[in-house]
Amino acid sequence: MELNNKVILLTGATGGIGCAVARRLADEGAHLMLVGRNTAALNQLAGQLPGNHQIIVADIVTSLGRQTILSECVDGGGIDLLINLAGTATFQRFEQQSEASIQQMLDTNLIAPMLLTRQLIPLLSSRSKSAVVNIGSTFGSIGHPGYVAYCASKSGLKGFTEALRRELSDTATQVFYLAPRATDTSLNSPAANTLNRALGNKVDTPEQVADALVKLVKTNRYCQFMGWPEKLFVKINALFPRLVDRALVKKMPLIKKILNNHETTKINT
Ligand SMILES: NC(=O)c1ccc[n+]([C@@H]2O[C@H](COP(=O)([O-])OP(=O)(O)OC[C@H]3O[C@@H](n4cnc5c(N)ncnc54)[C@H](OP(=O)(O)O)[C@@H]3O)[C@@H](O)[C@H]2O)c1
Repeated sequence: MELNNKVILLTGATGGIGCAVARRLADEGAHLMLVGRNTAALNQLAGQLPGNHQIIVADIVTSLGRQTILSECVDGGGIDLLINLAGTATFQRFEQQSEASIQQMLDTNLIAPMLLTRQLIPLLSSRSKSAVVNIGSTFGSIGHPGYVAYCASKSGLKGFTEALRRELSDTATQVFYLAPRATDTSLNSPAANTLNRALGNKVDTPEQVADALVKLVKTNRYCQFMGWPEKLFVKINALFPRLVDRALVKKMPLIKKILNNHETTKINT
């Protein structure tokens, strides 16, 4: 799909990856509807982009927020592309994560994108060509200690994307999935950054994710995992999960140490 003059709804626009994606799409000549909860951040972003763009202040977790988005899309004459990018993450021992935090994570990363997409399908399908892009994660395909609820949410998003892509395969609406690996944004807590450094995980820039997203849509690749060796690990985990179990068991002392240090720091602050 070409992006010039397309109307694109982008959730998570004010985040680290969202700002880079917005800049990249605006450079392609797209008209953006930028979604977030922070009015000042949305206005600041819109003011920096070339072209004319709209902001929508909405919490995607609430039905009121999603209704606001739908109304704005209807009033604006429809959309060509929906990008479900908004997300939240914590690096934390599962039993330490509060019920409210688990609920918020599943709501933000999985339930809200599903409900928003469902509401917008009629608008998308009224176009001769349209698409949905869901932003997952390597952790949607590899269960990782310290990210239990996050992995569950992104794994669910991956399943949702695959099923919807097949359900809409005889329509003009395509459904894409992009799975970034660790990316340099404030989504990652200091503990998560410590873990990435300790494990030697490569960290991408938000601009690399934005480039991958544009390439995915332009070349109609329905699914892309970012980074090497992460792509390989995803395949190995699908075929031989016990191998990945064993590799991660060896790293557990280090992971636990970082989680413990982080918990101690939190108690002391
Ligand atoms: N960074 C990474 O290492 C990484 C790796 C793989 C995948 N990802 C995925 O990439 C996506 C973007 O991540 P990021 O690193 O850019 O995160 P980020 O910098 O923390 O930004 C998160 C964005 O989500 C929005 N958001 C969160 N909850 C929302 C809600 N209830 N309603 C509306 N907007 C909400 C935030 O908007 P507000 O202004 O309203 O707070 C913000 O724009 C996420 O889905 C994440 O899981 C990130």
